[in-house]
Amino acid sequence: MLADSFGRIATDLRVSLTDRCNLRCAYCMPPDGLDWLAAPGLLTDDEVVRLVRVGVQRLGIREVRFTGGEPLLRRGLEGIIARTAALRPRPEISLTTNGIGLTRRAAALCAAGLDRINVSLDTLRPETFRKLARRDRLADVLDGLAAAAGAGLAPVKVNAVLMRDSNDDEAAPLLRFCLGHGYELRFIEQMPLDAQHGWKRADMVTAGEILAALGAEFTLTPDDPDRRGSAPAESFLVDGGPARVGVIASVTRPFCGTCDRVRLTADGQVRNCLFARTETDLRGPLRAGAGDAELAALWQRAVAPKLPGHGINDPSFLQPERPMSAIGG
Ligand code: 5AD
Ligand code: SF4
Repeated sequence: MLADSFGRIATDLRVSLTDRCNLRCAYCMPPDGLDWLAAPGLLTDDEVVRLVRVGVQRLGIREVRFTGGEPLLRRGLEGIIARTAALRPRPEISLTTNGIGLTRRAAALCAAGLDRINVSLDTLRPETFRKLARRDRLADVLDGLAAAAGAGLAPVKVNAVLMRDSNDDEAAPLLRFCLGHGYELRFIEQMPLDAQHGWKRADMVTAGEILAALGAEFTLTPDDPDRRGSAPAESFLVDGGPARVGVIASVTRPFCGTCDRVRLTADGQVRNCLFARTETDLRGPLRAGAGDAELAALWQRAVAPKLPGHGINDPSFLQPERPMSAIGG
């Protein structure tokens, strides 16, 4: 098992398959993008599958989420998913994507064994999208969402980040849109993970504000707390249900105490937290010929010292060196 000293057990593995992206969302990347990881440093498809297999067979990983950057930019994605789905015990397999290119690939992803999908959608206004994501691709994202639902990946989840003076007036319109299409919407508080270190607490649109805005148009009732488990989202029934909306209040209502996640970066580093300041290299030992048992032991040692919380609210908080795009969401 992947246990830490506070008794949490990681069963949910997030694998970043690339740090590249075809959007430049303001809460994530500077307009010019970043210096991408060099190709030789990236895990190959075989190496990714090997580490996922060690996680599943030796360490109790039950859920595998592929992320980026933008994971659809990884050519071998369908193959990686199919090989992950062939592992026993078969893990749940999900994908976090910006949706661009999904129209062409949703069916193949589904056939490969993808179980669930989260698509990021922050605005319904093309002009706001162009400013926030710095690319004119809203229509592609909306088409991608529809393709995912059409391919049988329902219920499609939508992630939205609200930014002050940009899309902070869209909480209710986004919910109306998602209700209308049968998508499950979750708002995520903006976290200090942008490469340009531009996050300011005062600018962050809080869960409280989001709920107030939604409350003006919808009746929200807190969902059964027993359903939440280790899920980061607080869930609410909308107008009596069965539709729901979620809020992931990572900053104002942290949920680190029930965290069950561990992360693997595209270059083969284990991170025990989004906000960890250290990483454990698995790629080096893997390429030097380490056996499964040795890799599993290294991985356990990486998770054991996981801190009790992210510390964003401490005066001494320091942002991790890697931005979100190189860690995976
Ligand atoms: N704060 C909150 N959410 C973020 N995401 C990316 N960067 C941030 C950030 N700084 C979201 C993306 C995507 C998921 C991986 O995390 O929009 O939905
Ligand atoms: Fe887990 Fe770290 Fe996120 Fe807290 S901040 S929930 S410890 S990954």
